[in-house]
Amino acid sequence: MENLKSSGTEALSPTVALVQFAPLLGNIESNINSLCHLLKAVKADVIVLPELASTGYAFSNRSDAFQCAESVDNSSYIRFLTSQAASLNCFIVSGFNERDENNLYNSAILVGPSGFIGKYRKIHLFWNESDIFEPGDLGLPVFEVAGLKLGLLVCFDWMFPEVWRILALKDVDLVAHPSNLVLPFCQQAVAVHALCNRFYIATANRIGSEGSLHFTGGSVLVSPLGETIIRGSVEEPFVGSHTIDLSLSRNKNITPRNTLKESRRPECYTFLTTVEKK
Ligand code: ACM
Repeated sequence: MENLKSSGTEALSPTVALVQFAPLLGNIESNINSLCHLLKAVKADVIVLPELASTGYAFSNRSDAFQCAESVDNSSYIRFLTSQAASLNCFIVSGFNERDENNLYNSAILVGPSGFIGKYRKIHLFWNESDIFEPGDLGLPVFEVAGLKLGLLVCFDWMFPEVWRILALKDVDLVAHPSNLVLPFCQQAVAVHALCNRFYIATANRIGSEGSLHFTGGSVLVSPLGETIIRGSVEEPFVGSHTIDLSLSRNKNITPRNTLKESRRPECYTFLTTVEKK
């Protein structure tokens, strides 16, 4: 499979956990302390944390974001996640304020017991994010961990059905979706993306406010049948976990004569890639 990175052992019924909290803007050490406390309560194969969990979200300018951004190969935050993944024997997905030379990316990283495994850079930047971050340039990688195929998206990507469908066509079982949601409806909409693509979605959202932005909490884990299995509180820190059934994400049959892949008509969809942006 294109882009498939393999790591870890088989777990046919992996347990997925969501962690929701309020990162403190620009303070990696404080965010590590908050997560250290919350992760004590977690037992799971894959743990998903919010968008930009290392540093918070609403920077007043690029220079403030740059001050606390870290590169993947020298990051106190990734060292912390690795030590947690080793002691909990799990994989962790987290939002990460990534610096790569002079560029910043709103990234999701995947870390396991042996360290950093891979990353996705947010493709669809929200509102003023484009004053700070470069748009994602790594496509939509898929990783094999804990016996499942894992795709990554970040927050506002939820609005774009194209990226969910690409991950389904790459046979993903679970999309980990670190988020800092401010618009309504994502938590309901991801159930539809899960149903139409027949995979699990773990949206780990943050709580609290920064400046004029209020984040909506309510993290969700939804099933390939569109059912909400876990729903976090709207205002409080939250940790929830559930064991998922991979036979559901691997069954793409819709009726005896329709499957998710075979009933597609890509020849009718060329408009999607040829239509002008404006
Ligand atoms: C968002 O993409 N953080 C709304």
